[in-house]
Amino acid sequence: MTRVIYLKAGGGYDSVFLGNENVSDPKPDEVQVHLYANSLNYHDFAVVSGVWGPSEQRVPMADGAGEIIKVGSKVKDLKIGDHVCTTFFPNWLDGEPNVDGFQTVPGDGVDGYAREIVNIPPNALTKNPRNWTYEQASTLTTAGLTAWRALFEDFNLTEKHTILIQGTGGVSIFALQFARSVGAKVIATSSSDEKIQKLKSLGADYCINYKKHAKWSEGVLSYTKGRGVDHIIEVGGPETLSESINSVKVGGHISVIGILSGLQGDLNFVNALLKQVRLQGVLVGNRAQQLRMIEFINEKQIFPIIDRTFKLEEIVSAFKYQESNQHFGKICLKI
Ligand SMILES: NC(=O)c1ccc[n+]([C@@H]2O[C@H](COP(=O)([O-])OP(=O)(O)OC[C@H]3O[C@@H](n4cnc5c(N)ncnc54)[C@H](OP(=O)(O)O)[C@@H]3O)[C@@H](O)[C@H]2O)c1
Repeated sequence: MTRVIYLKAGGGYDSVFLGNENVSDPKPDEVQVHLYANSLNYHDFAVVSGVWGPSEQRVPMADGAGEIIKVGSKVKDLKIGDHVCTTFFPNWLDGEPNVDGFQTVPGDGVDGYAREIVNIPPNALTKNPRNWTYEQASTLTTAGLTAWRALFEDFNLTEKHTILIQGTGGVSIFALQFARSVGAKVIATSSSDEKIQKLKSLGADYCINYKKHAKWSEGVLSYTKGRGVDHIIEVGGPETLSESINSVKVGGHISVIGILSGLQGDLNFVNALLKQVRLQGVLVGNRAQQLRMIEFINEKQIFPIIDRTFKLEEIVSAFKYQESNQHFGKICLKI
């Protein structure tokens, strides 16, 4: 029997419980993975806390990393002992987006990875970056890939560009690290002066406290001498999109990623069309993009920023910590 976290239908912290399961041998076209880590994302928080609770009992968590301990007879590219991390869309392997929701996403539409052992097809995994711990690798599935796709798949970020990131959560800190590793400039916002010091130590060129300066686009335009930034990692949603449009250059690119301030809001359409802004919706990414990201990480020797790690059994405390917004970068679970 191995340990597993369950979430009852509808979700909510009171509905989380620790159970046991019997895992059979993998099928010929599957591998068996001993999972050692998960990382938390806002999406997992929404499922577990009941904001978007599941319609039936579910094993939560989209991000998992571990070691292969058994290999089905038809599997060719993976072997026992390989260190692997999961993919967000097990069926979107490459090419243009072919998903429009979370029906196939582990930890939401299907069972996820808050468990010790899982049987899984190789296409729902990639190998970990070299010399990364399991906790580090577990941060890639959602936050890492979203930042990667926004900067290097939907946009072609180089040292000539200036980007803007919002807040100091998982996606934004990955974007900061990726952007600095190619020499791009980074403007960052945060609600906390203490976190701003950390942003600067990671190479952010200019930071603004968005609580003290609600019209932070003024600071962005002043720093960029009126031009605006090339690209924005837009995670705030309704409360930040207008300021983002004010902050981006004419013809600039905004990756519409997050909904931290809500689901709906007003938009200044005139400003958007006058500036000829490109708004690109992002829903994580595909497996081929994850493979390219890992190649890049191996080349650049980047390591993720993990704020704190909880035990699997402390999953509710971990989400309460995330909800408190104290974290900087990622929060992980050790299984
Ligand atoms: N579309 C996708 O593919 C995709 C993928 C991943 C994540 N997301 C979304 O992106 C957002 C961020 O995800 P995450 O996992 O990085 O979250 P996270 O790690 O929980 O980060 C949250 C951080 O964002 C900042 N923040 C909170 N409210 C804000 C606001 N109103 N305006 C600006 N910043 C704010 C805070 O940083 P400070 O304390 O520094 O202010 C907070 O610590 C979420 O909405 C999530 O659902 C979308």
